[in-house]
Amino acid sequence: TRGGYAHFMLKEIHEQPRALKDTYYGILHDVAVGEAVKLMHDADKIYVTAAGTSFHASYYFSLLMSILGKRLVIPFIASEYESYYLTASDKDLLVVVSQSGETMDALKALRAFRNRGAGVVAVSNVVDSAIPRESNIAVYTRAGPEIGVAATKTFTTQTLVLSWLAIAYAEASGSLSKSEADMLRGWLGRSGEVVGKIIARLEPVAKRLAEWFRSVGNAYYLSRSIGVPVAMEGALKLKEIAYIHAEAYPAGESKHGPIALVEEGFPVIFTIPNREDLEKLLLGNIQEMKARGAVIIGVASENTGLSDQLDYHFRIPDTHWILTPITHTPPQQLLAYYTAVSKGYDPDKPRNLAKTVTVE
Ligand code: M6R
Repeated sequence: TRGGYAHFMLKEIHEQPRALKDTYYGILHDVAVGEAVKLMHDADKIYVTAAGTSFHASYYFSLLMSILGKRLVIPFIASEYESYYLTASDKDLLVVVSQSGETMDALKALRAFRNRGAGVVAVSNVVDSAIPRESNIAVYTRAGPEIGVAATKTFTTQTLVLSWLAIAYAEASGSLSKSEADMLRGWLGRSGEVVGKIIARLEPVAKRLAEWFRSVGNAYYLSRSIGVPVAMEGALKLKEIAYIHAEAYPAGESKHGPIALVEEGFPVIFTIPNREDLEKLLLGNIQEMKARGAVIIGVASENTGLSDQLDYHFRIPDTHWILTPITHTPPQQLLAYYTAVSKGYDPDKPRNLAKTVTVE
């Protein structure tokens, strides 16, 4: 049931604190983690694949493996597997991320890699679904059933599990010390509580902003580094339930084309991870947008040095940047949700979409 909420999507957004806690305690004692890390170590090449929202989590994983683990992980969209699988052998590993575990595009990619002898690690929310069943190792999110077509709690919990794997890999390979790894795991352990505060604080802000968003025709979602997959997720939510054209891309690309579209009143949502180097880079991108009359919405730490640049500020408590998908996505889910509702759409049943796509 919707448990008093107007829609499953809103209920599931609000379930994130609990889902994150359950996922954290689940993975803390999961022996599959050590086995997955061993497969990652032994692999010549590591690929990660998924569709939609799960691909955004996968992309985050590849960035984290590179930043923390100093290891290249090749991300690709599951339906594009034919352009990749011929490069795989029995020395390689494919990580497949799928909340349902039944997405046909992801399953086909898995089978193509398996046929070439590659090992497979699955990250799923549904125990014993097809993708975990056909994998060597499965690691689970514990988000509970997700009914709304728009993925919400399964995304934030996927990023928790994938961060955990990247931290474990980086620690085992010596690029992170035990104390650094413990510190990061500590942040993951507190993420549920932090998200509870974020939702309570920012739901009214999202609701107010939605009153303007219902009338916009386009929006850009920009960030850098580990914020980019979060921007991609924010844009997908707005597209799929509020039917507003939204485009996400790494902010440095603006001057290579997309800024041509920006004029007075054009909304640009910046996902700003809590990292000084990224804030500095994003300042230039915010200024070039403002100079063309863009309205700047920042999802940023409450103590960011950029606050006077922002027309709207979703104030995120000061946390470690590794939590960016967990802390910066829920306000964007709420913005999409309230925009859809104020336009009179049912966010649980977006047109043309199914919860699980079991056809190619
Ligand atoms: O069940 P999966 O994680 O494999 O689903 C993949 C996509 O179909 C899914 O993430 C889709 O993009 C979301 N429902 C969008 O909110």
